[in-house]
Amino acid sequence: MVKQLAEEYIARGDPLGWHEELYRLAGGDPAVIPWADMKCNVNFLEWVQRCDLHSEGKTALVIGCGLGDDAEALARLNFEVTAFDISPTAIEWCRKRFPDSKVRYLVADLFEPGELLQRKYDFILEVYTLQVLPPNLQQRAMSCIAHFLTDGGTLLVITRGRDDEELHGSGMHWRLSHGDLNGFVKSGLREVSFEDYMDQEDPPVRRFRVEYSR
Ligand SMILES: C[S@@+](CC[C@H](N)C(=O)[O-])C[C@H]1O[C@@H](n2cnc3c(N)ncnc32)[C@H](O)[C@@H]1O
Repeated sequence: MVKQLAEEYIARGDPLGWHEELYRLAGGDPAVIPWADMKCNVNFLEWVQRCDLHSEGKTALVIGCGLGDDAEALARLNFEVTAFDISPTAIEWCRKRFPDSKVRYLVADLFEPGELLQRKYDFILEVYTLQVLPPNLQQRAMSCIAHFLTDGGTLLVITRGRDDEELHGSGMHWRLSHGDLNGFVKSGLREVSFEDYMDQEDPPVRRFRVEYSR
């Protein structure tokens, strides 16, 4: 159902519009949202547990935050967190779920970021947003994300992976290759680490977890 919805929107030239429609159709039921685990992303948690994240007095930005669990995890780590999503319904849902949250939740389009300040964020988390964008939008998306990062800051990207010669995918799953992700390097970032692994989903999904710095 979700793949079909995405394909319909893409066919009519609106590749971003299906997200809001999906969140609205869900009517508050997270079971309808395929990526809504209602807990912090395990691929992100694993990374956090083995790295030395300096959060005191630091700002963090969550791209396409969905229902907010990763943003809340960063707030618990003491970051000053801004989290945005293109879907007003998703952001309203975050505010309802976490009424006492310290996270600043915003409705914003990555491609027209408005009040999100350029080069302002010390840590940026991007989980599964690039992979829902058709390939013709991914390079521009990487450039937009890179511009949010402050000098010396860290960006962590978690996405579906593919080999360069494999097909991108379709509908709601547009896998990225290591070559595709070079868009971050072209936008002025340095690749610090690159992991290519099968995740813990059933069936397992090939993931790339990539850390960049400016
Ligand atoms: C696959 S979901 C992942 C959500 C969340 N990161 C997670 O892992 O649960 C992708 C999210 O990106 C949002 N999104 C898609 N295009 C966007 C854009 N141009 N700007 C901001 N958010 C966008 C969608 O509304 C959706 O919540």
